[in-house]
Amino acid sequence: MFIHIASGTGYRLSVDLDLLDKKLIIELLQETSLQLAPYIEILSSVPSTNDYLLNALSEEESLHIGNVVLVEEQTSGKGRMGRTWISPYATNLYLSIYWKFVGPFSKLNGLSLVMGLAVVNAITTFGLEQIKVKWPNDLYCQDKKLGGILIETNYKSGGPIHVVIGIGVNVKNDVGLERQLQQPCIDLQTCLGKNISRSWLAAAVILEVYKYLEIFSQEGFKCFMSTWAKRDYLMGKEVEVMIGATLYKGRVEGLDKSGALQLKCCGNDTILKSRNRKTLSIHSVNGTVISLNK
Ligand code: BTN
Repeated sequence: MFIHIASGTGYRLSVDLDLLDKKLIIELLQETSLQLAPYIEILSSVPSTNDYLLNALSEEESLHIGNVVLVEEQTSGKGRMGRTWISPYATNLYLSIYWKFVGPFSKLNGLSLVMGLAVVNAITTFGLEQIKVKWPNDLYCQDKKLGGILIETNYKSGGPIHVVIGIGVNVKNDVGLERQLQQPCIDLQTCLGKNISRSWLAAAVILEVYKYLEIFSQEGFKCFMSTWAKRDYLMGKEVEVMIGATLYKGRVEGLDKSGALQLKCCGNDTILKSRNRKTLSIHSVNGTVISLNK
């Protein structure tokens, strides 16, 4: 039996906890024709798996391409736009993967979108087809957030671009999650109507992310456009996009080859007048906020 000691909240017996199983995850990954040897670390608790890998980079520890860190809980999990990512113990999936790119920063255009597609593909192997990606990288099911991706980089001029891809997926029903994340949320258990093993899910996600990263490194976003179109949550929807202090309004018409959101603006829109064109291309930046006009 394992006893989990949560700071400030005492002891918890974890007889029924579905803890991450490193041996099983590695076995599942080795059954495939992966080119990469998976370097996997599983920890009980860290502030944030993204910070864990970013700190390793800044301390110049050597990281291998494909290094993964998975944890049972994060004490300061990070979401996009400076939000907190609530990360309770042995409940959901929290992992970060390290990758390295050579070349101009524009090579990363569309990376977060492709990572969303990779996670979606992993989840469909558990029988969940009704899952979408909301640009730039929210996983959506039943119009609620199922997971998210946070990509962070470490880059010195002229050198390689070190990338940390953080992935969070809600796996188990946690009543507090929605309240804490302040948006409608859902978890895989609810979507599927059954429990799934977090270790199986972790292996499926790592595998798909590796596969998609290998293709993306060679081809970029353009060869994922048709896959995106099938999973696009926003396609055809009227939205408002806030970038910095500017509000863009229009109807989503899909993405261009670089992964920029194509927004068709309505007649009296000031942006339309000032830019004198009907379609706006909006690139994803960390502070992007999209709201739907229902
Ligand atoms: C979002 O806001 O939608 C992005 C959420 C990303 C959460 C994951 S959990 C693992 C990794 N470590 C973090 O601190 N954040 C990401």
